[in-house]
Amino acid sequence: MAVRPLVGIVAAAGSGERLGASGPKAFVPCGGRPLLDWSVEALGAVCDRVVVVVPPGLEAGPDRVGGGASRSESVLAGLRSAPEAEACVIHDAARPLVTPGLIQRCVAAVERGWDGAVAAAPVTDTVKEAAEDGRVTRTLDRSCLWSVQTPQAFRAEVLRRALTVPRDELAAATDDASLVEGAGGSVTVIDAPPENIKVTRPSDLVTVQSLLLRSHSGSRVD
Ligand code: C5P
Repeated sequence: MAVRPLVGIVAAAGSGERLGASGPKAFVPCGGRPLLDWSVEALGAVCDRVVVVVPPGLEAGPDRVGGGASRSESVLAGLRSAPEAEACVIHDAARPLVTPGLIQRCVAAVERGWDGAVAAAPVTDTVKEAAEDGRVTRTLDRSCLWSVQTPQAFRAEVLRRALTVPRDELAAATDDASLVEGAGGSVTVIDAPPENIKVTRPSDLVTVQSLLLRSHSGSRVD
C-alpha cells in the first residue's frame, strides 16, 4: 500500500574536510553540476517533495533548511521541516550515483510493512576486528555482512521517534537505521550496487565522475 506523502531528505550539511575542497562538499562541482543536484534529481523522480539540509547560512531557496553539528541532527532538522511526511527517504548528498530505481525499491519495502529499508551491498572483503596494537582479535563471517549505504526509507513516525534521543547518541549514530533499530523498529536491507559510492576523498570524486559519465551514456545499473 502506498505510504504518502513521501518526502525525500538530502543530508548536505557536512563540511567535507577530507575532500579538501574550499567549500562544503555537497556544493563541489561534479559532472558539470553541484554534487548535491544528482541526489535531488533522483529523489525528485520518486518523492512528493525534496528537502535539502545545507550548512547554516546557505538556506536561501525553497525547501532548504540549515543543518546541525552532526549528520543525525541535520536529518532531524530536515524531518522537522516535513511534518506532513508519512514516509521519508534519507539520502546523503555525497552519493550522487543513486538512482530512482534504487530509491523506489527501498520505499516499496516500507510499503510492504517494514519500518525501514536501507540500500546495502554484500561485503566481499574478509572483515577482521583488531585491537589498538593491530593484533587481530576476530575474523567475522562475511556471509551475513552488508555494507550499508543511503538511500534509507522509513515510516516517518518511526524515524521521528527514533531521533528523540540525547544529542550524544545522535552524534554517535553513523546512519539513521541504527537509531530505528535501537528503538526496536524493523529494518531490512535492499541489495544495492557497490557503485553507489560515497564521495569522501578527492580520488572518490574522480571515480564518481567517470561512473556518472558511463551511466549517462546509457549503461547505469539499478
Ligand atoms: O561526513 P560524511 O561523508 O559521512 O557525511 C555523510 C553525509 O551527511 C554528507 O552528505 C554530508 O553532507 C551530510 N552531513 C550533514 N550534516 C552534518 C554532517 C554531515 O548533513 N553535520
